[in-house]
Amino acid sequence: MTTNATENRYTGLINNYISRMPIDPNGRIISLGEGNTPLIECHNIELLKKYNIRLLLKYEGLNPTGSFKDRGMTMAVTKAVQDGSRAIICASTGNTSASAAAYASRAGISAFVLIPEGRIAMGKLAQAMIQGAVVIQVKGNFDDGMRLVKEVAKEAPVDIVNSINPYRLQGQKTAAFEIVDELGVAPDFHCLPVGNAGNITAHWIGYSEYANQCTQSCSLCSGKCQFLQGMKSAKRPQMVGYQAAGSAPFMRGEMVDAPETLATAIRIGHPQSWDNAWKVHKESGGWFDECSDYEILAAQRLLAGSEGVFCEPASATSVAGALRDIESGKIPAGSTVVCTLTGHGLKDPDTAIKQATSKLITIDAKLADVKDAILSNMD
Ligand code: F0G
Repeated sequence: MTTNATENRYTGLINNYISRMPIDPNGRIISLGEGNTPLIECHNIELLKKYNIRLLLKYEGLNPTGSFKDRGMTMAVTKAVQDGSRAIICASTGNTSASAAAYASRAGISAFVLIPEGRIAMGKLAQAMIQGAVVIQVKGNFDDGMRLVKEVAKEAPVDIVNSINPYRLQGQKTAAFEIVDELGVAPDFHCLPVGNAGNITAHWIGYSEYANQCTQSCSLCSGKCQFLQGMKSAKRPQMVGYQAAGSAPFMRGEMVDAPETLATAIRIGHPQSWDNAWKVHKESGGWFDECSDYEILAAQRLLAGSEGVFCEPASATSVAGALRDIESGKIPAGSTVVCTLTGHGLKDPDTAIKQATSKLITIDAKLADVKDAILSNMD
């Protein structure tokens, strides 16, 4: 392969943050150009104007397979390949399986994915299947699949690529780097949907890594080094994790055995990063809360209808919770808030169509009919 010396292409987050990645830079890197996702500022949500809140959406649905999992998967699969592994395995509510399938296909190795039978969104199933993974449906939920994956990996030559694999978190920490690189300083609050709590942990690792590189003693910047080239802010955000009410072990203070929610991506009762998430909670001074399915879907519709940003239901949990906490004053007026939108809305078209308020109008192929449809639906 030849490369042009003047080429300046973005080639994925490992190359972009290579000095911060615990990986052999000279080995083979498995990438699909993940990361570098937009931070979209909300302009139209009235509540934000009322409280003078700057709300930015980190749109992780624009990763190659449509979710933040690609950040972790590029690292986990690169590490597996560099170590000579021939097969990876994961349990998944859908997005991890789609991402594992894609990166395994790119690497030329096998992927085995365990999904809860009948409980993953159609787009995710389609991705895993077309990308050549061996899809194993478990008559149970995600937590059953995770238990089986851990058990089988002790006996079969497969590398686990769930977020219990530390390389996953190393990849996912780059989302925090990108936010600080772009804003020049960490936000006041960072809100995420929480399932296994791997992503909230990874973000905290990223923010902390950037903060620690600041000399702290520097009297010039008062914690805001964005004006000093090459230095990052010492500030870290308060991390806020929102769960779906039927699947909220962090709110219950214990594992939940039969988790339920329409936001299937976060239908998890036994989070794998339980201890880490409590550490993030304590160190960052943040909190956990829960949102009902009704609130989650309302936030999904609001983002799509007011800001043109289509995310999957689980992702909207971050915004549902943040808007409630802005209204109550828990997130104070004047704050800068980042909400991660973890996955693209196209992952789950069924849920979107079921709750969309737009009319589907059918007409004869005649000019008069189309004119009538326009005029009778003008605002
Ligand atoms: N949002 C989406 C869209 C997800 O797919 C997930 C997790 C989360 C949020 C929660 O992230 O687990 O790091 O707290 N999905 C996993 C999967 C479980 O299998 O795709 P977390």
